[in-house]
Amino acid sequence: MKSDALGDNREEILRSIRDDVLNLTASPLYVYRTENNYFPVIGQGSHTAHLMFIGEAPGRNEAQTGRPFCGAAGKILDELCASINLKREDVYVTNILKDRPQDNRDPLPEEIELYAPFLYRQIEAIKPRVIATLGRFSMAYIMKKFGLENDLAPISKIHGRVFETHSLFAPNLVIIPLYHPAASIYDRTLKDTLLEDFQVIKKYI
Ligand code: URA
Repeated sequence: MKSDALGDNREEILRSIRDDVLNLTASPLYVYRTENNYFPVIGQGSHTAHLMFIGEAPGRNEAQTGRPFCGAAGKILDELCASINLKREDVYVTNILKDRPQDNRDPLPEEIELYAPFLYRQIEAIKPRVIATLGRFSMAYIMKKFGLENDLAPISKIHGRVFETHSLFAPNLVIIPLYHPAASIYDRTLKDTLLEDFQVIKKYI
């Protein structure tokens, strides 16, 4: 693999992830994607971001546009980022599942297993210093993947906490579980909780 302007091959890796997801005919969600003229939602933002947000799965707006968090939850994510002077272009935003599950249902374990390797390859390519998980599915996957399974607890107990870990690409990787922004649409008090938790992120970027 040749290296690019960043001195590594991240652009090439990210392109190959996109191509692999586009051709993921083995996914049970592939037929749903094509029947509805949906796009897979790979990820968006800076390829050199220090902060990576990981949500659950694309919703309808996202599948129609191919962009993560572009609907109501995305508007909240933008406000939360603005509260710590960050713009979307400064961060990288993606999901565990790259295709929309039918009727916005929760991701199935086998779907997480199928799509998670693409997420892991994105993390390896972008090499964030901070991963902020959005919601319980990405929290559980990321904490287990980075050796923090013993710290796993309900999101109500560990949101906004900082878990230090390391990986081959980031010797001091920080993982911060957050509520999913959409949760604050139904429970207004969670917006304040999210705003407070973003102040924690601010200390690490
Ligand atoms: N919810 C998610 O988890 N991801 C999106 O991209 C949009 C809504």
